[in-house]
Amino acid sequence: MIHSMTTIAPATGKLGVLTPGMGAVASTFIAGVIAARNGHAAPIGSVSQMAHIRLGSRDEGRNPLIREFVPLAELDDLVFGGWDPISPNAMEAARTAGVLKDADLAEISAELEGVVPMDAVFDERWVTRLEPTRVKADTDMAAQAQALIEDILRFKEENGCDRLVMVWCGSTEAYQEASAVHETVAAFEEGLRNNDENISPSQIYVYAALMCDVPFANGAPNLSVDLPCMIELSETRGVPIAGKDFKTGQTLMKTLLSPGLKARMLGVRGWFSTNILGNRDGEVLDAPENFKTKEMSKLGVLDTILQPEVYPDLYGNIDHVVRINYYPPRGDEKEGWDNIDIFGWMGYPMQIKIDFLCRDSILAAPIVLDLALFMDLAARAGVSGVQDWLSFYFKAPQSRTAAGPEHDLFIQQTKLKNTLREWMGEQPVTHSEAG
Ligand SMILES: NC(=O)c1ccc[n+]([C@@H]2O[C@H](COP(=O)([O-])OP(=O)(O)OC[C@H]3O[C@@H](n4cnc5c(N)ncnc54)[C@H](O)[C@@H]3O)[C@@H](O)[C@H]2O)c1
Repeated sequence: MIHSMTTIAPATGKLGVLTPGMGAVASTFIAGVIAARNGHAAPIGSVSQMAHIRLGSRDEGRNPLIREFVPLAELDDLVFGGWDPISPNAMEAARTAGVLKDADLAEISAELEGVVPMDAVFDERWVTRLEPTRVKADTDMAAQAQALIEDILRFKEENGCDRLVMVWCGSTEAYQEASAVHETVAAFEEGLRNNDENISPSQIYVYAALMCDVPFANGAPNLSVDLPCMIELSETRGVPIAGKDFKTGQTLMKTLLSPGLKARMLGVRGWFSTNILGNRDGEVLDAPENFKTKEMSKLGVLDTILQPEVYPDLYGNIDHVVRINYYPPRGDEKEGWDNIDIFGWMGYPMQIKIDFLCRDSILAAPIVLDLALFMDLAARAGVSGVQDWLSFYFKAPQSRTAAGPEHDLFIQQTKLKNTLREWMGEQPVTHSEAG
């Protein structure tokens, strides 16, 4: 069956990428895009920039780059902006984060200094470990939302942007569960007017973005775009949304390994994961209420991939533990250890040890780029609401299906590529003997 092509508006003009939060991830993302534009560094890790996509049968030999197959915005057309309660500009944020070397930053320092975040909507109740200096004076939530809407419109106008997208790169907020104020758009708007204590800053950013028809992706695990009111708003306004929590580091390894173990029907008895990291994110996550948000997002992964309800003998009794330890000497160069207790033929136990010396922001930056470009593509393709096909990028993907999200990275990759194929009028690739 040949799919009819989806009408996708062309990517004309500039695309503004707004990041609430201009810390390690956002500054590394911006620096890398500028370096790629200048020809100093390839955008490694970015599927939208580096990956090819097979079209038709393998014999046809059609295998273009994704960015030549679908009409994405060009890196040259991106403009950067955002909000931060501390960072004065992207250069200072990059220096503080200490992810990139001075030599790499020196070449692009003028451009990075030109990316100046706007004053943030910030509330210490949700992120306790920071000392904010650049925050909006208004403490009234409805006024804060209005101020963000004005920021968005002004940014678009001043930078001559054709379109905008927003990717949350701010700190992880304290754990919360959805409450009555999050049920409907009407309840949320009422909550803004009453300064409801259940509304967090990130939710005000989502509201402002959607009211301006700006697609929103959430890179952190806190509750923001994954709320009934925001899903309703995204659908009524026709805006794409996606979340949550960038899939990097240890969880990336988990979603690489566990489908493999399951594919070979090897059992898992325990999975112990611990991390040391010393960046600002680690400091925020050192607070138990903020760690809880992260923990919930990390724990869901194994169950969904391994399906203990289908395979009780193999995966019905797993001890899954996740720890994050704040250890300043390590900076952004996180180290993550995994001890996996598996079992095989006749129940004989075996162990796998992983020691991943990763760089968190180096893994997260290409995700910000891909999400920005694909969310913009989705908006131009006229789709709205939760974008399941972008679950590839998230630890705790949002899903519009009753069955919930797919966590297996390879199924997620197939879903992403088949969505692009379908939009472009190509057949999905099934990998069957026939296809
Ligand atoms: N690096 C990764 O691999 C990775 C993976 C998954 C998720 N994340 C999440 O991405 C987010 C960013 O990570 P990071 O390493 O850049 O952290 P970071 O601490 O370096 O940067 C976060 C920035 O957000 C700012 N901020 C806090 N509250 C804000 C608000 N209300 N409005 C605007 N800005 C606000 C902080 O001042 C800080 O500069 C964190 O929530 C982190 O948990 C990161």
